[in-house]
Amino acid sequence: MPALHRQQNELLDSLRACWRAEFGGPAQVFFAPGRVNLLGAHLDYNQGFVLPAAVDRGTFVFARPRDDRRIRLRSLDREPVLDLDLDALSYDPAHAWANYAKGALAAFGPAQPGMDLLFGGNLPIGAGLSSSASILVATATAANHYTTNKRSTREIVYLCRDAEVNFVGVRCGIMDHYASAFGRDDHLLYLDCRTDTHADVPFDSGRAAVVVCDTTRRRELADGRFNDRVRECAEAVAALRRAGLQIDALRDLSMDELLKYKNTLDPLLARRAIHVVSEIERTRSGVESLRRGDLAAFGEQLIQSHASCRDYYEVSSPELDALVEAACSVHGALGARLTGAGFGGCCVAVVDRNEIDRFIKETASIYHKRTGLHARIYPFKPAMGAGRRADLE
Ligand code: GLA
Repeated sequence: MPALHRQQNELLDSLRACWRAEFGGPAQVFFAPGRVNLLGAHLDYNQGFVLPAAVDRGTFVFARPRDDRRIRLRSLDREPVLDLDLDALSYDPAHAWANYAKGALAAFGPAQPGMDLLFGGNLPIGAGLSSSASILVATATAANHYTTNKRSTREIVYLCRDAEVNFVGVRCGIMDHYASAFGRDDHLLYLDCRTDTHADVPFDSGRAAVVVCDTTRRRELADGRFNDRVRECAEAVAALRRAGLQIDALRDLSMDELLKYKNTLDPLLARRAIHVVSEIERTRSGVESLRRGDLAAFGEQLIQSHASCRDYYEVSSPELDALVEAACSVHGALGARLTGAGFGGCCVAVVDRNEIDRFIKETASIYHKRTGLHARIYPFKPAMGAGRRADLE
């Protein structure tokens, strides 16, 4: 049995045992995946284009409705059960992961019954793979099953994004929740974050693998640096509008216009804008490369994206740079870049399918020599989005 399946079966076994001990009786099982973004770094909140895939890891929720308005939440790894009033859910800094579940539940309102919920997942937390979106989308998928006021998948996406922005306080865009909800086997989602619609882009898993390389250095999305970037982009738009450009978002800016108006911008804001405008172009041409089967050109676009994230958007870290360099130096690697918000966490590499084992070994060894850290490296498969899985009788 492949290692991931074995690990997933073990996780489900532990969840079943914990459910029986803590809650007992039957449960419905829901799952929402994390995501990895291949191109389009920090473009979603600039109304640009992104290229994520849902991955074959995420958050499982065992659930059952209750007759009262209590919400009882438990995570596999952490006791105790949180016993909360469904009609008075509020953010609590002490609740960590549970704030994401509460944020999704709070959005459903009176049409939703109380629930017992048990959570367990197999994504590294805070690593840039959207463990938070997978908790939100898994919770919302479960809640949607029991509410009398059913939401469409698109509505679930908006509800989860709004919960992350307003309940948790991270000014994120729509990409993570969208990929978690709409993922498709062996496809990337080419998502336009202005119209919130996507085209599926086939990914040839027979020729190449998407490999996630975890620096094992963590960052907190809620630590403020992510929100700083959102604010800086809004400031760049406001300054360019004052200078006479009719734009609503950095998405509306061409590189020619930016170069012409660059001097009206504070140098830091100009660097942020250069990243956004060039990354939009890279994402477009990356999709074209994939569509014509040119994986080498696609890999090159990943490498350019990392350089732009490092030099213009300034969201890399010494460990991410070391890991991207290590990955790109190994035979069989087509390209690599940081993924997610950056500042720590993971990079994503595209690797020749026949060279995976060697890639994993050599990348880990070079990275260890440079940093003393042990990278965790896993091949991922673009996978299906959120839904109900086999129930517990
Ligand atoms: C985080 C946010 C996303 C997106 C990425 C950067 O993951 O949650 O909305 O902005 O960073 O591309």
